[in-house]
Amino acid sequence: MQYSVRTRALTQTRRTCFVVGWYDDLEFSETASALNEASSGQLKKLIALGDFKAKAGETLVLHDLSGADTQRCLLLGLGERKNFSADQFLSAAAGLTQSLKKLSVGRLAINLDEIVVTDRDDTWLATKLVETFADSAYEYLDMKGKPKPKPKNAITAIELIATQDRTRALKKGLDVGSALAAGKKIAKDLSNAPGNVCTPTYLANQAKALAKDYDSLTTTVLDEKQMAKLGMGAFLSVSKGSTEPGKMVIIQYKGAKASVKPHVIVGKGITFDTGGISLKPGASMWEMIYDMCGAATVFGTMKTIAEIGPKMNVIGVLAAAENMPAGNASKPGDIVTTMSGQTVEILNTDAEGRLVLCDALTYIDKFNPETVVDVATLTGACIIALGSQASAIFANDDKVAEALLSAGETTRDRAWRLPIWEAYQSQINSAFADMQNIGGREAGSITAACFLARFAKKYRWAHMDIAGTSFKWAGTNKGATGRPIALLTEYLLQQGG
Ligand code: BES
Ligand code: MN
Ligand code: ZN
Repeated sequence: MQYSVRTRALTQTRRTCFVVGWYDDLEFSETASALNEASSGQLKKLIALGDFKAKAGETLVLHDLSGADTQRCLLLGLGERKNFSADQFLSAAAGLTQSLKKLSVGRLAINLDEIVVTDRDDTWLATKLVETFADSAYEYLDMKGKPKPKPKNAITAIELIATQDRTRALKKGLDVGSALAAGKKIAKDLSNAPGNVCTPTYLANQAKALAKDYDSLTTTVLDEKQMAKLGMGAFLSVSKGSTEPGKMVIIQYKGAKASVKPHVIVGKGITFDTGGISLKPGASMWEMIYDMCGAATVFGTMKTIAEIGPKMNVIGVLAAAENMPAGNASKPGDIVTTMSGQTVEILNTDAEGRLVLCDALTYIDKFNPETVVDVATLTGACIIALGSQASAIFANDDKVAEALLSAGETTRDRAWRLPIWEAYQSQINSAFADMQNIGGREAGSITAACFLARFAKKYRWAHMDIAGTSFKWAGTNKGATGRPIALLTEYLLQQGG
């Protein structure tokens, strides 16, 4: 997709589709009036018919506006004029991409004269436009037989038309949006890839390939032998039941001097979670191909950051393993020693995410991190608590929590904070070991976070449970969402100054 910003007037180029925004008072903007004149009053007549109410996201496509220099004109409803908010803009953008799906538009022009978001700047506006178009055009076609079908959305170029003074901010937004779109696309591809393709080794190889594309990135991979040497008994207790070897993948982005402390992001990368010996029920077990969405989020965020190139240091870690039942798999009741030296009684082998993450959290202390954020499809309980709207945030530092929440509000990739009070910690105390890996039915997401907190005491840290937000399992809507890459990217860029 080609994006550009233009200041050219309406009639100077031939276009295949020209988008004009309308508020629900149905007043004629300057552009609309010009269009009306060019079509000798046709637009006024159409509006008078009352078929177009201009609710946010409503659209009306007009062909054959004789006189106007475009094949089609798409009227885009913006909703209420006073306080045209971020959410209203996003509804309009979603409506636009939906209705464009039914058309066969190659080159699109969007007139932004009427479209100024009250609570966000133009950089945000352009970023979100690119993100919305990319999300809408995304299809996972890698596994279709040959020849692969062409993507359905045929848009090849989008021109934003705005006054000169807006050009700079809009162009910056297009760059950030394109970087985000690239990061989200690769994350979705990795997440949607089935478990027989996307193994820990595959993730490691993809991360090595990613580092080849950017001078600012380096990838190192720890194999099971190296992890055993480091004493990662918790991680290995998960991967040992699988014939696919586990990998700890470290992707380093260098945008500042080595003395600048890095921000570290860690992702749960269970490439398939059967539950292990505590086997999951069969009906929707397939969904657990998405149990590496945390790792995919980290991967996609690293690509986005490398594309943008901020002057800061970021390290992404993928804790990649497959959780299988086998003769040599961990059993309920087993006790293992983590890299931190703390011991864990594994009462349920299906609570494996925290086991791979805890050793990753101990390992990354060697980078002397400024902040650490881990992202994981950690608990089904999180879906019950927050559904698919908000990711859950837990933190041992209020500033980090607030920065993440605020990044979520800005990007509309939203999150909500839950507590990890000391009082909850007793739920995971164990009689035999230092802790157990489950805390009973109550507050399942919180006790999972409390477990991780025991390994993140040395730095400012937050944990995000993305079980409800990172993928959709329903029918045609099925697939990875690319969340929370927008949130994390915004967070990192804010931290980087
Ligand atoms: N990967 C699952 C959590 C999950 C479930 C993510 C559904 C997305 C959708 C995780 O490993 C798991 O199995 N958690 C258990 C924990 C329990 C055994 C304490 C759960 O949530 O049931
Ligand atoms: Mn599990
Ligand atoms: Zn899992």
